[in-house]
Amino acid sequence: MAAAVKVSSVFRKSLFKGKVAIVTGGGTGIGKAITQELLHLGCKVMIASRNIERIQKAAEEMRSTVVPNKPTNLAHMQCNIRKEDNVKDLISSTLKQFGKIDYVVNNGGGQFPSPASNISVKGWNAVIDTNLTGTFIVCREVYNQWMEQNGGVIVNIIADMWKGFPTMSHTGAARAGVDNLTKTLAIEWAPDGVRVNSVAPGSFIYSETAAANYGDSKIFHHMLDVVPVKRLGTPEEVSSCVCYLLSPAASLISGETVKVDGAASLHNTKYEIRVSK
Ligand code: ADE
Repeated sequence: MAAAVKVSSVFRKSLFKGKVAIVTGGGTGIGKAITQELLHLGCKVMIASRNIERIQKAAEEMRSTVVPNKPTNLAHMQCNIRKEDNVKDLISSTLKQFGKIDYVVNNGGGQFPSPASNISVKGWNAVIDTNLTGTFIVCREVYNQWMEQNGGVIVNIIADMWKGFPTMSHTGAARAGVDNLTKTLAIEWAPDGVRVNSVAPGSFIYSETAAANYGDSKIFHHMLDVVPVKRLGTPEEVSSCVCYLLSPAASLISGETVKVDGAASLHNTKYEIRVSK
């Protein structure tokens, strides 16, 4: 069995005891840090991803390292959030397994860098389908199957797209859409005791997953001269904000997006304007 990992949290250990969360993309990067902190705080967690091998491997690892005494607190399943029937199954399976759903963290997403002029409609639609429509489907399904009757909290993970998102127009548009969806759902579902918020990490959160995705462990280092805090961020610094928003400490916070970026979005961007042709 792998050695127990030291998950730390500023929150009291039993904060989420008896609670149940779904974390999409919960096996890698920021999603994995969120899953680990929720488990550490006593939550039962269902993690889901389109890639079954990856989510299974991550779940097996976290069962033996984070919750070796309570491995059944972590469940996993394959779910392509672009597909309504997959999402319906994710919600109903979680209810079957854990009996309720208190929290959903919409973290699953993906994109590829490209100038807007080179993005095909197929590539554009794939990114919008995953990051915007996928998030919408998960929110709608958990509301219809559970939260309308029982309340709950949803946190959507978006991105630093506040000044546009050069080379990432598709995901910038999708994440801005989720920022607005967050506000609408917060209003429509407030009478049912459902809070909906977003967290927008800076584009300099270092994780092994991000480095592997881009094939470069120094992927974010070029950003350092425009990042006011002069260091990279960590997935755990995003996770603590998510846990705060899920917790009763945020009981009057809904429809809000919290930037976790050390003021980077207020300052210059790294994008270099090309010379005109
Ligand atoms: N992560 C990236 N793309 C995804 C998808 N379509 N479904 C679930 N998780 C994902």
